[in-house]
Amino acid sequence: MLQDKDRIFKNLYGLHDWRLKAARARGAWDGTKAMVEKGHEAIIEEVKASGLRGRGGAGFPTGLKWSFMPTKSDGRPNYLVVNADESEPGTCKDRDIMRHDPQLLIEGAFLAGFAMRAHVSYIYIRGEFIREREILQAAIDEAYDAKLIGKSNLNGWDFELYLHHGAGAYICGEETALLESLEGKKGQPRLKPPFPANVGLYGAPTTVNNVETIAVVPDILRRGATWFSSLGRPNNTGTKLFCLSGHVNKPCNVEEEMGIPLRELIDHYAGGVRGGWDNLLAVIPGGSSVPCIPATLCMDLPMDFDSLKALKTGLGTAAVIVMDKSTDIIRAIARLSYFYKHESCGQCTPCREGTGWMWRVLERMAKGQAEKAEIDMLLSVSYQVEGHTICALGDAAAWPVQGLIRHFRHVIEARIDAQALKPIAPSVPVAAE
Ligand SMILES: Cc1cc2nc3c(=O)[nH]c(=O)nc-3n(C[C@H](O)[C@H](O)[C@H](O)COP(=O)(O)O)c2cc1C
Ligand code: SF4
Repeated sequence: MLQDKDRIFKNLYGLHDWRLKAARARGAWDGTKAMVEKGHEAIIEEVKASGLRGRGGAGFPTGLKWSFMPTKSDGRPNYLVVNADESEPGTCKDRDIMRHDPQLLIEGAFLAGFAMRAHVSYIYIRGEFIREREILQAAIDEAYDAKLIGKSNLNGWDFELYLHHGAGAYICGEETALLESLEGKKGQPRLKPPFPANVGLYGAPTTVNNVETIAVVPDILRRGATWFSSLGRPNNTGTKLFCLSGHVNKPCNVEEEMGIPLRELIDHYAGGVRGGWDNLLAVIPGGSSVPCIPATLCMDLPMDFDSLKALKTGLGTAAVIVMDKSTDIIRAIARLSYFYKHESCGQCTPCREGTGWMWRVLERMAKGQAEKAEIDMLLSVSYQVEGHTICALGDAAAWPVQGLIRHFRHVIEARIDAQALKPIAPSVPVAAE
């Protein structure tokens, strides 16, 4: 278990003051100038050595991503964009960083901006985060007033930081859609390549990173890559914010060591599964887009990228959604399918048509009004959506369906069998709540 001395987010629960003075007393902005004096490359190398992987869902190595940014300008500026859109169902960690420890994010943006030679950075915050936006803007103003950022600041790298809010669309969390939206256009993803490091915001080299990824950077640089990589295990290093929700006794956010066993995480911090572990049905371990896993796989499961990938699921945003035996798992996944259908931007046919198709079939399956042959047909459609779209929303819509069929095919079949014994009801899809 993580020791207090290794904790990065010392005010995760907002028990202390978020303002600059208190944040500095907790260690923020300590030695920032000295870090800048080490140079751009040294910072990128340190982040690479720490093993930090992006906390926005995909787990891409952060230092490597930063190294894709041009080191010589061709006249275009370099930009850092912080992704604070946080809309993945089950996920509410970036929100707590922004409202309770905003200076960690601001200092992280400054250092990441310096590493990538960006003098300007934007934080794109989810539209619904109104209070978080107010606090973050006040914290940015405080950092300007204290000359920690801005022109000719005390830390030796001119740096402007702008906070921009979206209008509340899940798809604007996808990095290219986010950049389009930031430019004032419709928030629709675009094909990659070109990647943002070559052609990003306003056509200039850009790196998009998640709030948590950026907020842990100052501590990595202050305490050293070796400290960070000593936590967790190779390729899965550091601490991680986990969001524990669903059928647990005390839903909460917690910072823990990467790789902590799922059972320990839930028992120690969330007061255990409602009704005890024997009452557990399934867990979605990384936010709504990753496939669910049944209780039998959950006991000693290490919560990290590679362990979850080996079980054909993922760490995603580390939002753990617990479902006990009272859950109608078909209906739960049908509800997620409705979400993806609703959030599809509609550009690609497999996603636009496939998300609605999957949802409608699942609605029927939840009532047992389907043929058993349709289970494999549904699986096959999910594979025709996955990997065949412009952005990963298509994958995100397909994976929960695949998880359901992989682990709970017997539940779908039993419901069809039970329905076959009843008089046939009309098979009109019912709008999700
Ligand atoms: C549909 C969709 C929604 C996404 N939403 C978010 C989000 O809300 N926050 C986020 O940080 N990343 C989100 N991502 C991932 C981003 O595209 C991007 O990979 C991430 O911001 C990179 O940051 P990282 O390298 O620090 O993880 C989303 C991706 C997709 C496909
Ligand atoms: S996959 Fe879906 S959300 Fe992504 S670009 Fe295509 S239609 Fe839009």
